[in-house]
Amino acid sequence: MSDIGKPMIQFVDESQSNEPSSRGSLTGLITNITDACKEIAGLIECGGTNDLNGVAGSENIQGEVQKKLDIITNDVMVRHLSSTGHLAAMLSEEVEGIIRTPSGMPKGDYLVAFDPLDGSSNIDVNISVGTIFSVLRCPAGITEPTAEDFLQRGTEQVCAGFCVYGPVTMMVVTTGNGVNGFTLDRDLDEFILTHPKMTIPEETAEFAINMSNQRFWEPPVQRYIDECLLGVDGAREKDFNMRWVASMVAEVYRVLTRGGIFMYPLDTKLKTEGGKLRLMYEASPMSFIIEQAGGVSSTGRMRIMAIQPEGLHQRVPVILGSKKEVERLVLYHQERY
Ligand code: AHG
Ligand code: MN
Ligand code: MN
Repeated sequence: MSDIGKPMIQFVDESQSNEPSSRGSLTGLITNITDACKEIAGLIECGGTNDLNGVAGSENIQGEVQKKLDIITNDVMVRHLSSTGHLAAMLSEEVEGIIRTPSGMPKGDYLVAFDPLDGSSNIDVNISVGTIFSVLRCPAGITEPTAEDFLQRGTEQVCAGFCVYGPVTMMVVTTGNGVNGFTLDRDLDEFILTHPKMTIPEETAEFAINMSNQRFWEPPVQRYIDECLLGVDGAREKDFNMRWVASMVAEVYRVLTRGGIFMYPLDTKLKTEGGKLRLMYEASPMSFIIEQAGGVSSTGRMRIMAIQPEGLHQRVPVILGSKKEVERLVLYHQERY
């Protein structure tokens, strides 16, 4: 019987057969995250009328201008996750250090890293934004986690997901057993399974990259994009289409539904930082989802899920999407370096 139409929490709970001991807790944690995302969806919808759009007048730890909604959505996530007993600590794009659950409150088995508002430069122009999260296990015996405890490879993730606040609000989740997509039903106030077992087509003809950085790219990326642009007249012998939304959530959702390659590669401008996108709460959870949907995710030089993190806000190059396209670009890197 098809699971389409099932409420997300029921579906996740039923499919959690691999970890019976902490099953209830993970489902509880996912419920907290979906509650936060529902609240964020509401705030984004009425942002302009409630004076929530625009800049906050501050910068985050990474020197980026914070939008009012960057701060508000961070607070929503922290409020929903703090005192539920499922978590030991959190990491947010908007906060320098880890956020521990308040003392005296019950501590849970998990650590969560999140980007509360991805693509926030798109807020004022009414283009899709989202929330990304990665769930890790708190190491056994640790009740007061430190930053070190978060520095786990992507392969250690228990669950990853993202919510995209677009024409419809959608949540995409993996617990390591495939990828499922859920649509927010406003009447029921529930995420409903609408896209079971999402899989990425192996071969496609659509690429996503910020072309304004072209002169800074490394040779393998130059070669790959040059060949796409030459279309039927070049080595690829087919025409390619291009998209750039500037919201990773929207790009990954598109790749999941109709394939393609998305990248924010290393370039000469980003050499010192190591890349643009953050490993712990952007690259790592998205890589888990992409791999679970049959795609590939790489820096060009190595599998993103295998990177040993060295810092909470570490940045990495990201190349992800349809297997054959990402493998081709990885090959171009191998031939060069
Ligand atoms: P955030 O809004 O959380 O800082 O993330 C924005 C990221 C990502 O979503 C997107 O792919 C990329 O930055 C866009 O970068 P450009 O503005 O350089 O295109
Ligand atoms: Mn982001
Ligand atoms: Mn963000």
